[in-house]
Amino acid sequence: MDKLIIEGGRRLEGTVAISGAKNAVLPVLAATLLTSGRNKISGVPRVRDVFTMIRLLGELGARLESFEGDTLVIDTSGVNNPEAPYELVSTMRASCLVLGPLLARLGQARVSLPGGCAIGARPMDLHIKGLQAMGAEIELVQGYIHGTAEKGLKGDHIYFDTVTVTGTANLMMAAALADGETILENAAREPEIIFLADVLGRAGAKIEGQGSDVIIIQGATALKPIECRIFPDRIEAGTFMIAAAITGGDVEITNCIPHHLESLIHKLREAGIQVEPGDNSLRVKGQDRFRSIDIKTQPHPGFPTDLQAQTMALMTLAEGQSIIVENVFENRFMHAAELMRMGAEIFLDGHTAIVKGVARLSGAPLMATDLRASASLVLAALAAKGESVISRVYHIDRGYEGIEKKLVQMGASIRRVK
Ligand code: UD1
Repeated sequence: MDKLIIEGGRRLEGTVAISGAKNAVLPVLAATLLTSGRNKISGVPRVRDVFTMIRLLGELGARLESFEGDTLVIDTSGVNNPEAPYELVSTMRASCLVLGPLLARLGQARVSLPGGCAIGARPMDLHIKGLQAMGAEIELVQGYIHGTAEKGLKGDHIYFDTVTVTGTANLMMAAALADGETILENAAREPEIIFLADVLGRAGAKIEGQGSDVIIIQGATALKPIECRIFPDRIEAGTFMIAAAITGGDVEITNCIPHHLESLIHKLREAGIQVEPGDNSLRVKGQDRFRSIDIKTQPHPGFPTDLQAQTMALMTLAEGQSIIVENVFENRFMHAAELMRMGAEIFLDGHTAIVKGVARLSGAPLMATDLRASASLVLAALAAKGESVISRVYHIDRGYEGIEKKLVQMGASIRRVK
């Protein structure tokens, strides 16, 4: 298993270009199952979750024609297998995104339940309830969701008890090939959901309201193959913003969409860090000393849970005490224990973490536990005194394209050992 060895204490300087958004490309890849033909997607990041989704689509009968540069072509005319096996779903929860498309396309689906993951139980009850409302019969058999909709799916009025991103995506995709109108209330408003709605719209479904919490979808009888370019990853961009801040560096982040990062921009400024947005770029100038800030994670446009761990790493070195409340997932503070091994002072109480800023962190052997937690450890290690060795970095490879290459380019001392 690969490890990252980081010698901390270097300011990051220079430019870094952001890759396509992982959480945008995964639902779009699942949406290709709704079509029958050659789908062309560009701006695709070469991260492990993308390769897992491509393998899953292959299992279902799609064929990857090519993946050159950042453009892939996938032919979905042969999709005929409704089963998403445990071996793949258990490595990537977003595999559950094929449930809605398979039911809509084949009238049946057998998708393994993802099970627990490091950041919490993450059930799929809301996906299932929505599909049942649309006429699917669903049973749980030996850890698999067995769904059938022999006469096809029918539009319905669906209310989500909790805002769910993949739940909204799954039902929007199912509704795109359902009979009649589907209304999704308390829907997710993430940029990735708006993008998926636009992609489905160009393929032939009629969708209104994306970006608000009520999305209305008129199903089509067939959808045209998808052609699109994935937009830049806001979480990757946010991680590099914090990398600049935590090392007291000066970094220009290119190929990013500043308005997707409003909450982080505001919070970094509150901490006293200079952030200058351009049209498609952001310049972040760190300061030797910065203030503590409080954050509460929330669905978009609130502060993203996917940047909570990285912000906690930053707060370990702030002046003063910071309160971090995690409202989206029940168990997303595993990085705290690792940060404490580097000298951070963190007190956990349920969904709340109190972080007392310290003058310095020191390098340590560290263990990555999930994707964003790993990113927070890399950030802390960049700022720490001495060497850190981060093991289980396969977590970080799930969602960051060439992270060490990008950091080295800005002056970090980081290398990968097998
Ligand atoms: C997506 C993102 C993930 C991000 C998360 C929250 C993708 C591929 N992943 O994950 O990076 O951290 O949104 O922004 O886009 N819930 C239920 N029942 C359900 C579904 C969800 O109770 O049927 C709960 C979850 O346990 C969680 C909350 O809803 O507490 C939000 O989860 P959700 O938005 O579904 O997260 P994902 O879509 O899995």
